[in-house]
Amino acid sequence: MNKSLRKTVIAGNWKMNKTRAGAKALIAELIPLVKDAGCDVICCVPFTDLDAALLAAKGTNIMIGAQNCHWAESGAFTGEISAEMLSELGVPCVVIGHSERRQYFGETDETVNRRVRAALDAGLKVILCVGELLHQRENGVTEEICSMQVKIALKGVAAEELGNIIIAYEPVWAIGTGKTATAEQAEEVNGYIRAVVEGLYGKAAADGVTIQYGGSMNAQNAAELLKKPNVDGGLIGGASLKAQDFAAIVKAAGAGGDI
Ligand code: PGA
Repeated sequence: MNKSLRKTVIAGNWKMNKTRAGAKALIAELIPLVKDAGCDVICCVPFTDLDAALLAAKGTNIMIGAQNCHWAESGAFTGEISAEMLSELGVPCVVIGHSERRQYFGETDETVNRRVRAALDAGLKVILCVGELLHQRENGVTEEICSMQVKIALKGVAAEELGNIIIAYEPVWAIGTGKTATAEQAEEVNGYIRAVVEGLYGKAAADGVTIQYGGSMNAQNAAELLKKPNVDGGLIGGASLKAQDFAAIVKAAGAGGDI
């Protein structure tokens, strides 16, 4: 597996954290710390922070993303935001299918697929999250779960569109728990997901797709994870809220884990 065939991407998932003032301050603190990044850098912020974050990051190498979008163009979906609303705002990318959406907001593989389709149609890049629950890992069905989630999420997505998809493997038991998957566990599942993509789209597409790891990645464990051949970056929750920690992960990614 040749890592140079694909982009390394470090994305922060701020979740429901930071008001606009806090977002501006965090972006301002990050700009000098990540300006020479050897990887792509994305901050996925709450909807209400998007325009402030876009303005704060304008002209820098920090890309701003949202954390969800609806599948319909418009309509009676109280509280939802369409992909077009994001793209009109100038937002280039969106997280879809995060496990918190699946767990707390009734997101299913089918709705994830519809949201992915809508996001691509609106010209957005997608960070597609997949990953198993603890009991699923304990029952030995991690591969089946990830395979199913990837296959259903990408239904109707053409090979040419895969360049706009980043997959984030996030074992649910590792999210926000401080329990990181070992580098070996991350590598194993990321490699498996790449094989699933190869089965769907062929080897060239699989070699080119960025597959991140997410789940308690931090400044201390990032290098070891990012050194693995199939770990092409990270989706970072808690540690993305601290500029120094996030910047340390960006630095580790830029060095291919060699720091
Ligand atoms: P965490 O979150 O880094 O806080 O575990 C990761 C995520 O949910 O994307």
